[in-house]
Amino acid sequence: MLRGGRRAVYRHPLAVRVWHWINALCLLVLLVSGLQIFNAHPALYWGKASTFGKPWLALGTGDAPAFPPWITLPPWQDLAGGRHWHFFFAWIFAVNGGLYVLYAIAGRRVRRVLLPTRAELASLGRSLADHLRLRFPRGEAAREYNPLQKLAYLAVIFGLLPLMLASGLTMSPGLDARFHFLTVLFGGRQSARTVHFLTAWTIVAFFLIHMLAVLAAGPLNEMRAIITGWFVIGRKGET
Ligand code: HEM
Repeated sequence: MLRGGRRAVYRHPLAVRVWHWINALCLLVLLVSGLQIFNAHPALYWGKASTFGKPWLALGTGDAPAFPPWITLPPWQDLAGGRHWHFFFAWIFAVNGGLYVLYAIAGRRVRRVLLPTRAELASLGRSLADHLRLRFPRGEAAREYNPLQKLAYLAVIFGLLPLMLASGLTMSPGLDARFHFLTVLFGGRQSARTVHFLTAWTIVAFFLIHMLAVLAAGPLNEMRAIITGWFVIGRKGET
């Protein structure tokens, strides 16, 4: 028990914290190196082939790159360099994510911490309304993730991140030769590239909302928890 009736609870096990920070670093490097790769041909298509004349989306105009140097890795135009960074961190991202999913399922984190109960699902509307008003659970109720948070994390862990990986693997000629069903599933290599690009920006959108939620819920307490594991409840004004 801490002073003022506050209590520290162990919220994030070491495995979750290690996964979380390696994942955040990987996604940052993957985004900026991915934009470098995208700049080499800043247009997107659906289907099997790139019909240069009729892109689904074209972002580059004339000589100016689609994404400016400050947001690409390396900052200067270097497709080979961008691919080296991208593929190196993609493997770390895949192994790290795979280990976390194994841990979360076998260690029952999915069932105990991430899956919302029936009662929580029934109160989803209220939880959404509270979120929109930036009202977050306090005291004992803040011990666990709220239902909206649980659904968002499940969608990221079992939806967006695997989709990112699968659409990326589909674009690799070696993997296409071995696991051609992936290319068929995405409806062609160009569709996989478009899905990969759109998924990356959906993850960026999740990240911005994630940061907003951390700021609104009490950034010091939240950051302490995701770094050390310990989360303080019962504190006036913060939780
Ligand atoms: C600077 C970057 C980031 C910060 C400061 C941050 C912060 C946090 C915090 C404070 C929590 C715990 C929330 C709570 O206890 O209520 C958390 C959990 C989580 N974050 Fe992040 N985050 C960052 C980047 C990311 C990214 C890039 C992703 C994935 C796209 C991500 C996905 C998650 C997930 C899935 C959880 C729940 C994990 C679990 O409980 O097993 N985070 N984050």
